[in-house]
Amino acid sequence: MKDEAMRLQKYMAMCGVASRRASEELIKNGLVSVNGKTVTEMGYMVKPKDKVMVNGKNISMEKKKIYIMVNKPIGVITSVKDEKGRVGVTDLIDGVSERIYPVGRLDVDTTGLVLLTNDGELAFKLTHPSKKVYKRYIAIVEGVPNKIELEKFRKGIKIDGKVTAKANVKILKNFGDDSILDIEIYEGRNRQVKRMCEAINHPVKKLKRIAFGELELGGLDTGNWRYLNDEEMEYIKSL
Ligand code: URA
Repeated sequence: MKDEAMRLQKYMAMCGVASRRASEELIKNGLVSVNGKTVTEMGYMVKPKDKVMVNGKNISMEKKKIYIMVNKPIGVITSVKDEKGRVGVTDLIDGVSERIYPVGRLDVDTTGLVLLTNDGELAFKLTHPSKKVYKRYIAIVEGVPNKIELEKFRKGIKIDGKVTAKANVKILKNFGDDSILDIEIYEGRNRQVKRMCEAINHPVKKLKRIAFGELELGGLDTGNWRYLNDEEMEYIKSL
């Protein structure tokens, strides 16, 4: 840490504990202490000499940053904890001793690209709406959307009282009974693609994320993972 104090959740993210938002949850849940005292206050400022513990373990600034891309299969979850005992996406990774966590979420029945890292600052940049990093999906939907429905999808749809940001969508294949769509969205609201498709009366039957900004899944098989390559690391650094 530099000389100045910083917000506890930011410090935790920089230590590679979790994203800022997930760190806030840990704080709220009383799992974080500073100098032996539990802190649940969100704006708490940590000073360089403070001793911060999460879940009873000391944390400090992470030295080695890890960036992994995984192709999540159906049935695997992206949240860290699960009461039902389902497999988590980090369980698919072996031989990595650093604690890594997913950037954003995919539904249990969605497949495709999940980025895993211990770089909390990057996770924040990639998921913050102001950064406008797109996520690209291939969706099989019921029926074939017409021009009006596609336009509605692109311009924004009211979900939970708030209109979605501009999105891109095109039909890749039309089978009559259903169709394959190529979709790009710039936000990451809960079940966003499914809810947008439902809103234009073309429910999603299958969903796969194929890109997160310039990071592309390419030929990575379902259930497999790899470290980001040099070109992808350049992109990450440019954000
Ligand atoms: N949108 C969804 O509806 N589900 C996902 O898993 C990702 C985006």
